[in-house]
Amino acid sequence: MSYNFITASEAASLIKDGDTIGLSGFTPAGTPKAITAELAKIAEEKHARGEQFKINVLTGASTGDSCDGILSRANAINFRAPYTTNSDFRKACNDGFIRYSDIHLSQVAQRIRSGFLGKVRVAILEACELTDDGKIYLTAGVGISPTIARLADFIIIELNAAHNKNSLIGMHDIYELERPPHRRPIMIEKPSDRIGVPYIKVDPAKIAGVVEVNIPDEARGFHEPDPITDKIGQNVADFLVSNLRSGIIPSTFLPLQSGVGNIANAVLSALGKNPEVPAFEMYTEVIQNSVIDLIKQGRIKYGSTCSLSVTNDCLQDVYDNIDFFADKLVMRPSEISNCPEVVRRLGVISMNTAIEADIYGNVNSTHICGTKMMNGIGGSGDFTRSAYISIFSCPSTAKGGCISSIVPMVSHQDHSEHSVNVIITEQGVADLRGKSPMDRAKTIIENCAHPEYKELLWDYLKISNKGQTSHSLSAALGMHQTFIECGDMHKTNWSDFKR
Ligand code: COA
Repeated sequence: MSYNFITASEAASLIKDGDTIGLSGFTPAGTPKAITAELAKIAEEKHARGEQFKINVLTGASTGDSCDGILSRANAINFRAPYTTNSDFRKACNDGFIRYSDIHLSQVAQRIRSGFLGKVRVAILEACELTDDGKIYLTAGVGISPTIARLADFIIIELNAAHNKNSLIGMHDIYELERPPHRRPIMIEKPSDRIGVPYIKVDPAKIAGVVEVNIPDEARGFHEPDPITDKIGQNVADFLVSNLRSGIIPSTFLPLQSGVGNIANAVLSALGKNPEVPAFEMYTEVIQNSVIDLIKQGRIKYGSTCSLSVTNDCLQDVYDNIDFFADKLVMRPSEISNCPEVVRRLGVISMNTAIEADIYGNVNSTHICGTKMMNGIGGSGDFTRSAYISIFSCPSTAKGGCISSIVPMVSHQDHSEHSVNVIITEQGVADLRGKSPMDRAKTIIENCAHPEYKELLWDYLKISNKGQTSHSLSAALGMHQTFIECGDMHKTNWSDFKR
């Protein structure tokens, strides 16, 4: 191969203070890991000498510790978009050290293309194979790779031998959208449709260096299932079955999108076990272990995703059995995996997790008590707004019961009452379709709030000023304020707020 093979440290030295770097991958899956760690070392050395060194980081979604964690601890990030799950990053962002822009994941590539996020100087792509004529075969995630590869001044490849290229080549469907007004329809009519090619093609001269590595993905493990998440999963599955029986969901079922985490696993597990639910398809942004298990059991027929965010043993299982999986999985860029046009056309049922929901059906996915960023909106908005049925679930309480996840008014709003169809907790299901705001409030309090908070919420309605959407503006965030002051929402006394 005629490329310039360099070390991760040499590659990092090509990146200058103030540069914007774009990374391949989506979640830790497919994200480069070696060069960002070297960048953190450069930042620490320069800071120790009193020199400035900070970069801007654009990604498909979250990354692993080798990017967001290491770079945050080294105080090396100036600006970052669009999503993260790293606790050190979260702290630095909430303490004001990182400028963080939380963006719908389907929109990141378009915003880069349109110049909203500045100039990408360097694209760092994790690949399993690279050809002399500039074909780059990605690994376990795609994200914004095609766009940053095309727009960056130069590209650095992390050629990662930890991935099995013989299994991965052919699993991607790379297609980049045109800029308006030249955009054409995205011709995906079912999750398995392919519209692109299995590689990213660039001018080989643009590849400034290739770094050979052998580093597994930094896959996150999961908590053990617990009775609350199991009950939520069962409630979601029962709700979907009731819609199947009534004909709202056709007998062939509809493609599902599901977020990450234990609730998503519990929902899929409950659906997989239900004999009334036919084998179904996923049109989603991340595939977790539970999806791979259900594909093996024949319960999921096809998975369209942006990444395989699975544990490394699960990924190895896919690689080892690629003859079985090859016609059941495809990985797409995030602007396609999350594309509202396709989600609306396919009739995707979206299932995401809320931090809190209010009694009228507005949902907060991102901010704790209205001010502290948790992770970001991720793809939840891409899917929710365009879904055939949009579902949000969460435990009815948090922090040992001191927080009610059902509140009078969300302290930050990511998804509005106009987009949210169903709220589900371990207590039950609030089907908001076809209901007025006051109908919704009664259904959500009755079916979803924890019994310890129901009376408080009913009392809130009594002290509210009547209207299409009844509220007391002075008391609407009273439960949050009480938690901030006393550490327990149970102690809320509406007379302290209602003036
Ligand atoms: N008030 C305060 N804290 C709350 C809370 C509330 N109403 N609800 C949850 N939390 C806290 C939990 O206590 C927990 O804190 P800890 O990390 O200190 O233990 C943390 O938030 C995460 O909650 P958890 O119950 O473990 O749920 P999760 O891991 O499933 O995460 C979201 C829930 C909402 C943060 C997560 O799903 C998310 O980031 N969603 C937005 C992105 C998205 O929807 N993507 C979908 C496509 S993949």
